[in-house]
Amino acid sequence: MFITNISLNDFRNYERLDLDVGPSVNIFYGDNAQGKTSIIEAVYVACCVASHRTNKDSEMIRLGSDGYKIKLIAEDNDGYKTELYDEYIEKPRQKRILKQDSIESRRISDYIGVCNTVIFAPEDLNIVKGAPSYRRKFLNTLIMKVSPTYVNLIGSINHSINQKNAILKTAKFDQTRKYDADLDYWDFYLADISAELIIYRYRFTQMLSEYAAKHHGDISDNSEDLKITYSSITGTVSVLEAYLSENNISNEFITRNLSQGNYERIKAILSKHILSKFRSSREYDIEKGVSSIGVNKDDIDISLNGLSMRSFSSQGQQRTAALALKLAELEIICKYTTTMPVLLLDDVFSELDLKRRVSLVSTMKNAQIFITCTDKSFIAEELSTLTEGKTARYFKVSCGTVISE
Ligand SMILES: Nc1ncnc2c1ncn2[C@@H]1O[C@H](COP(=O)(O)OP(=O)(O)O)[C@@H](O)[C@H]1O
Ligand SMILES: [Mg+2]
Repeated sequence: MFITNISLNDFRNYERLDLDVGPSVNIFYGDNAQGKTSIIEAVYVACCVASHRTNKDSEMIRLGSDGYKIKLIAEDNDGYKTELYDEYIEKPRQKRILKQDSIESRRISDYIGVCNTVIFAPEDLNIVKGAPSYRRKFLNTLIMKVSPTYVNLIGSINHSINQKNAILKTAKFDQTRKYDADLDYWDFYLADISAELIIYRYRFTQMLSEYAAKHHGDISDNSEDLKITYSSITGTVSVLEAYLSENNISNEFITRNLSQGNYERIKAILSKHILSKFRSSREYDIEKGVSSIGVNKDDIDISLNGLSMRSFSSQGQQRTAALALKLAELEIICKYTTTMPVLLLDDVFSELDLKRRVSLVSTMKNAQIFITCTDKSFIAEELSTLTEGKTARYFKVSCGTVISE
């Protein structure tokens, strides 16, 4: 899938944009704060329904406007065209409209994954260095891109946590009656879907760890040992690993070669464990008026030679690990969807040394790529590898206008 046209209305500093782009490398260059990243962000948002820069959709609406619209036209290798449409309205009432070929997508899971993209941006460093929420977002978006079931699972989890929190909040202030039956209902349901979610996350974390370690080795000459592990606040991962190891089925579990019966058994064990954790924190949760544990608080640990990278690594090591993780994401998406996603490279070459640049470029052959940079001469060397003989297109960005060269 590659994008042929991008059109924007009231997105960031663009009042209007209607731009035809090329199937190979598209380079957006210009001074700072002109609107280069905003174009890449718009493509990412319209494909993945999430921004790499912000969690607040309202921030992307052009100041003074009530909503933004993004429309992308994408084409597959057989020439079949698809139109993706993402509109977010803030006033008078918050509303998001997603459409594929003018038909509204009833569920986000129908929409995400139609045109996949992977973004490489300075913000990637947050995956290694930042708060757990950055790592959760990274892992969640990766799995969402390849699994509609996971998209729905995340929706159900969020909805259930909100319901549970609303009850806990009421229970905190209303001493006149017990809320245990209502909480039992949501805890039971949440434990069940959380177990399913944890299985997804565990499998993808294992895959990430394997692929990221390989890319990390290529970039850093195999001198350090990068490991990614899933850590669940409810301790569920330990229960899972103990079961897998006792039954000697770790490999089958990760490669999905388990019987349905075995899968259901594992899910039931995890779900029972989570439920017991919910039960033992109930009193505390009612006192606080909010649930204190759940998959919405889980994290992934990124370690180098056994030491947590967030606390112990240098900025250079963190940058290499972030790049290795993103290359692992790209590899997983290619593997699952058997297509090359659209690649978005926001200002990345200026921050990488030659070795990292080579590593990046060598995985990206034959892809449609959008690159932003302040000076087009910065990427001259990489360009011939990236385009593989096809023509690169240049766009000069200044003050929210884009001129195609
Ligand atoms: N919601 C918004 N409304 C209007 N302008 C915005 C909004 N968000 C960001 N901007 C402005 O858009 C401009 C372009 O930002 P950006 O795309 O990040 O620039 P670049 O990548 O070229 O450095 C900046 O001047 C920024 O302040
Ligand atoms: Mg920028």
